[in-house]
Amino acid sequence: MEDSILVKDRYFKTFISAEQIALRVQELGEQISMEMKGREPLFLVVLNGAFVFAADLLRSVTTPCHVSFIRFSSYDGMESTGRLTQVLGLTEKIEGRSVVIVEDIIDSGLTMQALTEQLQAMRPADLRICTLLAKPGNLQAELDIDYCAFRIPNDFIVGYGLDYDGYGRELKDIYVVE
Ligand code: IMP
Ligand code: MG
Repeated sequence: MEDSILVKDRYFKTFISAEQIALRVQELGEQISMEMKGREPLFLVVLNGAFVFAADLLRSVTTPCHVSFIRFSSYDGMESTGRLTQVLGLTEKIEGRSVVIVEDIIDSGLTMQALTEQLQAMRPADLRICTLLAKPGNLQAELDIDYCAFRIPNDFIVGYGLDYDGYGRELKDIYVVE
């Protein structure tokens, strides 16, 4: 098939184009800028998946801000392993600050729940969640998602920073498994 691509050992097809992503990410950046104006928000980017999204989002933010990167992994291949680990790499002081978590995708929401619990304990003035994608049909946690670019069905996706077993992060568009 023509618009089908092979990533590792599975075929994927285009789901959200680079153009659609760019428009929506720009919109989100503008909204966050308006709502966070004068608060010097700290964007905490969850590696590895959110690095592409964060690079575009940050360049559409028009108010002074800070950015830092953390790591928090719970995924192997196509299914959640349910393994939740500690936040790694958090060197910034969170207390009293306006923090925006930047994540690639919220699936079960368990990763984000564990992360927000750990961050809330550090007493930020304000803690918000910004995710590129959310799969509401799979949500198993009580989460307030403040900013979400796209809500999608429960299918496995890849591209624009998201991977399938380490492959596919370099793809410009977002693809869904066939
Ligand atoms: P959760 O804890 O189930 O919400 O899992 C969140 C993490 O799983 C995300 O940060 C991603 O790294 C990964 N993930 C969930 N769904 C997908 C997907 O469709 N493609 C690639 N990674 C995914
Ligand atoms: Mg992730």
